[in-house]
Amino acid sequence: SGNQTLIDQVVTRNASRLCSSKSIVTINGRFPGPTLYAREGDTVLVKVVNHVKYNVSIHWHGIRQLRTGWADGPAYITQCPIQPSQSYVYNFTITGQRGTLLWHAHILWLRATVHGALVVLPKWGVPYPFPKPHSEVVVILAEWWKSDTEAVINEALKSGTAPNVSDAHTINGHPGPVSACPSQAGFKLSVQGGKTYMLRLINAALNEELFFKIAGHKLTVVEVDATYVKPFKIDTIVIAPGQTTNVIVSADQNSGKYALSASPFMDAPIAVDNVTATATLHYSGTLSNAPTTFATPPPKNATAIANNFIDSLKSLNSKKYPAQVPIKVDHSLFFTIGLGVNPCPSCKAGNGSRVVASVNNVTFVMPTTALLQAHFFKIKGVFTTDFPGNPPNTFNYTGAGPANLSTKNGTKVYRLPYNATVQVVLQDTGIITPESHPVHLHGFNFFAVGKGLGNYNAIKDPKKFNLVDPVERNTIGVPAGGWVAIRFRADNPGVWFMHCHLEVHTTWGLKMAFLVDNGKGPKESVLPPPKDLPQC
Ligand code: C2O
Repeated sequence: SGNQTLIDQVVTRNASRLCSSKSIVTINGRFPGPTLYAREGDTVLVKVVNHVKYNVSIHWHGIRQLRTGWADGPAYITQCPIQPSQSYVYNFTITGQRGTLLWHAHILWLRATVHGALVVLPKWGVPYPFPKPHSEVVVILAEWWKSDTEAVINEALKSGTAPNVSDAHTINGHPGPVSACPSQAGFKLSVQGGKTYMLRLINAALNEELFFKIAGHKLTVVEVDATYVKPFKIDTIVIAPGQTTNVIVSADQNSGKYALSASPFMDAPIAVDNVTATATLHYSGTLSNAPTTFATPPPKNATAIANNFIDSLKSLNSKKYPAQVPIKVDHSLFFTIGLGVNPCPSCKAGNGSRVVASVNNVTFVMPTTALLQAHFFKIKGVFTTDFPGNPPNTFNYTGAGPANLSTKNGTKVYRLPYNATVQVVLQDTGIITPESHPVHLHGFNFFAVGKGLGNYNAIKDPKKFNLVDPVERNTIGVPAGGWVAIRFRADNPGVWFMHCHLEVHTTWGLKMAFLVDNGKGPKESVLPPPKDLPQC
């Protein structure tokens, strides 16, 4: 705690899972990567040294990076990537935040293995707003592919079709015994009867929303995305890539072994990795060969179970942690999100077309200079500020798609004045098929003030918004064939990425950026970049 400098070496290593082995990119040789512990108010310095053949960048997912977008990490948005044999020091201060977050590579598909927990403890002497658990454990959910993930996405881009799904899910790096490899051990969580444990759950998967449950035990949810919620008890939680959830488990059985399980949530007819990862909650004093109690995972399309969790989330909204929901909206935006199809003469498997994704019909094209650099140094020709605040054509978003499925390419940003209040309605479309999209906004937390199925109704739906204690997060699932409304205050100058956190959709172009202008005050402008900022 206090100021700390950490060194992250980006290196490859061999790892074996599912009874076969392959080379993976890691931080310091670890999968999942090391947990970064800090305290609210700390300044963190992480020197990232790139020893692999890929360009690299690291994102501190959910850290607001007030005025320090240079440390945010998305390649070509806030920085040029760290090239092979180069290094860069991420330098940021954690202001007004505490809780569980994650860090991950933000370039190519390296996030598959380059990720880890980022635990921000409250300031010294500041208690949690719930009874202190006996102990705390980081639990990272992710995926494992038998093949190289860069090859998986490159193959899909060449053919124009969807990439393969993973071969198994993982809990703290291990799938546990699965039919493809019954002998492999899973993660073991040792507990003592009568004690309480806080699990800091993180979904670091590339492409799958996951259900998580523990046989024979209820979960008391106390925090999501590093914001406190009104505690509630539930059997099963749903967690999308990029999201975090703290749950308290009371070890109220006397002994035994109980399975933790992570299984897919997908409410659209789209292929998923259907292999459930398991780990074991093991009471002290229980023999290691004792039988494990399993719980049946929810079916993958168990939307009601997912909604039961999502609809229970409310900001704690206490005196100490008030929900500061913007009441008056300066910029009211309506973004359609979803998939489309563009011509691709060389795409043989796609019959001359490729799947793309878009926001308001714009498929975002990655620039070759970082947007924040272009903005700060006034480099012309890198981006345009004409990102549409509304869809170019209206249609029945959740019905059959329009006749023309193609999208427009562009590197467009939506410009906001400093401190403007913003509402964005994110509307899923059924252009190819309705599908849930976990949308992540960099640089801000937002309040999820409304949600519904079907087409958003701008007259009727706002009357039902929760402006008192809506959940505050940085990544929100837009329901398949439905919408969510989010609100935030643009009090962080810089360029901030917003994208679907399913990596395949980001790759296809479901991404855009907000450009927030400097304010007039002394602490309302982007700080100058560090001297070692990578160049493109
Ligand atoms: Cu966790 Cu832009 O990502």
